[in-house]
Amino acid sequence: MNQLAFQQTHAVVTGASSGIGRAIATSLARKGVERMVIHYCKNADGAQATAKACAEHGAATVVIPCNLTSSESIQAFASACFVELGEVHTWVNNAGADVLTGAGASLSFDEKLKRLMQVDVLGTIELSRLVAERLMKQPSARPSSMTFIGWDQASEGMEGDAGQMFGPVKTAVTAYAKSLAQSVAPKLRVNTIAPGWIRTSWGESTDPYWNRRAKEQSLMYRWGTPDDVALAVLFASDPANTFFTGQLVRVNGGWNRRSPRSEKE
Ligand SMILES: NC(=O)c1ccc[n+]([C@@H]2O[C@H](COP(=O)([O-])OP(=O)(O)OC[C@H]3O[C@@H](n4cnc5c(N)ncnc54)[C@H](OP(=O)(O)O)[C@@H]3O)[C@@H](O)[C@H]2O)c1
Repeated sequence: MNQLAFQQTHAVVTGASSGIGRAIATSLARKGVERMVIHYCKNADGAQATAKACAEHGAATVVIPCNLTSSESIQAFASACFVELGEVHTWVNNAGADVLTGAGASLSFDEKLKRLMQVDVLGTIELSRLVAERLMKQPSARPSSMTFIGWDQASEGMEGDAGQMFGPVKTAVTAYAKSLAQSVAPKLRVNTIAPGWIRTSWGESTDPYWNRRAKEQSLMYRWGTPDDVALAVLFASDPANTFFTGQLVRVNGGWNRRSPRSEKE
């Protein structure tokens, strides 16, 4: 990766108050992004912590909230990002509803599915259309990038409620990203990074069954980390990577098609 490619560029990372979004924002700052919008919904303290980590790498940051279930909030956020940054070169749509931990975990299947659809699909698409329109009008010579976050098992399917929720939701995100890529090239590059089992808040508190399963389903025999996902997002977003668009890249340590390993945890 070109170490200088991100210098003098501006980025927006949604859902950057924790987990994967924080790792993406921090990695972009480490690579030299000059100015960045750190988005959050409710976790203002988390967003400030991300901003502090980015500032330590020299990035100027502004923290802006947006609730992706509200059109008003989406429109205000899209405008505020361009007011703050002028041109945007890297846009990462990482925000996603949490239905596995906290209050979201006790919702019914229908309520979880609706929330995921509202935030990850409808809100993300509404925001992306507004932003893509603005990015298309920018004068910069090199294409800007927009990166979405999918899920590695979305197209193959996974048993149980989680598979039946995240499968259709993240498949929709990926399908939208592919059509957007077709619509906006060559001015804008659009890709999806599809994480596998990544140890964020759910992974940190899950039971021994899922802990073992997450490791065994990866050829690398470990959980993925937010930094593993951030590395792939950096690759997709790298302004020098001008031939990379319309792609879906899974970050899951390689899906394990062998028999489960016998190692003890
Ligand atoms: N962890 C995994 O194994 C895994 C696997 C595949 C895909 N993913 C995807 O990766 C992304 C990040 O996941 P994560 O594990 O890092 O989760 P996380 O720590 O819960 O982060 C989710 C982010 O989305 C924001 N968000 C939630 N509801 C929102 C809303 N209504 N409007 C706007 N923003 C909202 C949160 O903001 P606040 O906290 O500030 O409210 C937070 O910043 C998600 O899209 C997730 O589906 C994760």
